This record gives sequence, C-alpha cells and structure tokens, in this order.
Amino acid sequence: MSQLPFDEYAKRLKVLPVLTVRTCEEAVSVSRALLAGGIEGVEITLRTPVAIEALAAVKQELPELVVAAGTVTNAKELQAVMDAGVDFGVSPASTAALFDAIDEIGLPFLPGVATPSEALSAMERGFHHLKLFPAQSVGGLSLLKSLSAPLSAAKFCPTGGLNEKNFTEFLQLPNVFCVGGSWMVSADTLEQKNWDAISLAAQQTMQLAAE
Ligand code: 3PG
Repeated sequence: MSQLPFDEYAKRLKVLPVLTVRTCEEAVSVSRALLAGGIEGVEITLRTPVAIEALAAVKQELPELVVAAGTVTNAKELQAVMDAGVDFGVSPASTAALFDAIDEIGLPFLPGVATPSEALSAMERGFHHLKLFPAQSVGGLSLLKSLSAPLSAAKFCPTGGLNEKNFTEFLQLPNVFCVGGSWMVSADTLEQKNWDAISLAAQQTMQLAAE
C-alpha cells in the first residue's frame, strides 16, 4: 500500500467534502467534479452498500485525489477500506478496539472525538490530528477555542453542522487544519447530476478557504 503518514494528508487538505453515494458511477463523477473545482480530497462514508466498491473505483479513476473512507467504526470495516486502497480512514468516534485495529492494520487514520477526554485518549494513542464530531452539537467554535491551550498539540477537522456560511470561521482557528461536511454536495445536487455546478461550488469554497 502506498499511503503516506497522516501528517502529509493534513498538510494538503483544507476542506474535506463528506459524500454518501448510491453508485460507483455517481461516486466517480462527483469526485471528478470536485477535483476539477480544486478539492484535493474526499471522504466517502460507509453508509451505503456500494461504499467500499465506490472507494476503490474513485481511487483507481482519480489517483491524484486523496480518498478517505468515512464512518469506519470497527476492525472489519477498517480492513475492507484498506483493501479498497483508500488513503486514510475516518471515524465518527473512537474506541480502544478501533485504535487496536488501526495499530494492527496500519492505515493512516483520522479518529473522531467529541470531548477533551476523548481527544486526550486519542493523543495517548499517537494521534494529533482529530475529527471533532458532531462539531456544532458539542460546542463548535467555542469548544475548539477552549481546547487550544490545554491540548495545544491537537489539530482538529471539525465536521457535523458546518456549512457554506460558517466553515471559514472554523478554518481561521489555529487548531483547525481542515473542515469537513456534506454541505458541498447535497442529495439534491447528486440527484440532478449537475457536475458543473458542483465544480463551481467547489471552486468558490476553495477560494473562500484560501482567504
Ligand atoms: C460526517 O459523517 O462527518 C457527518 O455526517 C457530516 O456532517 P454534516 O452532514 O453535518 O456535514
């Protein structure tokens, strides 16, 4: 496998669209449209039966795109996404069993945390890039600001409740390396197959992210 240490992905990614796809064709088309709009990586969630196949298809068709598997919650799913050739895995939450599986399987990983204790537990297991989920529900900007001094080594990718109006505020925080969410590609947009509109929205998002 050719994965890089997670730090390398963290340097490249600023915005990580979270995709839930129904077919491989849809996954490849939407990923291609996002890439054309300047997005460097996508997270495809394990929430549809086609997800594993879609992850493999996107990685094969668009090798330059960072492809992350989302909603990974156990060792079996972790092995399946590793076998699909993804660049890294993402979880909505973290358990000791999941950390053990990550150690054993060796896939770069962005573990989900929702509290300072969970963040510290993840840091004890060697993770310094963490997904804060569900970010808005657990305190959003205010929680992230509060965590920056006591957990200064932790860098977060807040996800859950972010949207086109608030994501730049998150990106301005020094302990936020990336933001994630489904707002860029709604179910409606996918339904309409308007790939040009998705590319344009991605371009606008990346422009705002760079400001
Ligand atoms: C995720 O899996 O990371 C979340 O479902 C994304 O949350 P959002 O839909 O509120 O962006």
